[in-house]
Amino acid sequence: MDKRPPEKPIAMELRETVDEKLYSPSAARNSAVIADVLSPVLASQARVLEIGSGTGEHAEAVCSVRPDIKWTPSDPDELSRRSQAARARETGGVQAPLELDVSVPGWTQDLPEFDALVCCNVIHISPWTAAEGLARGAADILGTEGRIFLYGPFLEGADTAPSNLEFDTSLKARNPQWGVRALQDVTQLFAHNGFHLEKRIAMPANNLSLIFSRAQR
Ligand SMILES: C[S@@+](CC[C@H](N)C(=O)[O-])C[C@H]1O[C@@H](n2cnc3c(N)ncnc32)[C@H](O)[C@@H]1O
Repeated sequence: MDKRPPEKPIAMELRETVDEKLYSPSAARNSAVIADVLSPVLASQARVLEIGSGTGEHAEAVCSVRPDIKWTPSDPDELSRRSQAARARETGGVQAPLELDVSVPGWTQDLPEFDALVCCNVIHISPWTAAEGLARGAADILGTEGRIFLYGPFLEGADTAPSNLEFDTSLKARNPQWGVRALQDVTQLFAHNGFHLEKRIAMPANNLSLIFSRAQR
């Protein structure tokens, strides 16, 4: 088992590698709870696009309990895509990964329509332009019943957990453009792109699951 830091930092943790599969300590802790919350949100045979899939463990966890869905993982990072591809070969429903960077304008070009967009632990560990690109792209690729599932830590004013404030400080020390995002800013950003916050679900370790759907016109 090889244990090495990523060549360029894309996560705040060390991951283990077995053959081409990466293993994330945080995904080991949260994959099952994410699958529990996300699974009922996905329609039968839903076409899911995941952004910043990392190791691919969330794709594997959800498809293991929902073999009817078609889940396409993606990542700009090649080692992560190799790990996702290894999981796609072993897990029914998980498709070959795509190379997608949501901060690149027009990243949705050439993509088909999807029923759900999933993004876990990405928008705090990338510049705000990634969140902007994600929201804009969601409007392009989701159908009328499309949903967005975001998971991660968020700032909620005076209610923010101290551990999330400390995490915010450590992220900014690593990269001043990173940082735990304010729930209000994220909600406003998605509203600006035509989505309303349908559900906020408190998750273990002071994380949130957020489900957005298209705002009624
Ligand atoms: C902290 S990891 C999270 C991985 C996985 N989603 C999880 O929760 O275990 C952040 C991931 O986001 C990806 N990422 C960073 N910036 C991105 C961008 N602009 N577009 C798409 N993915 C990005 C990184 O390559 C990395 O795989």
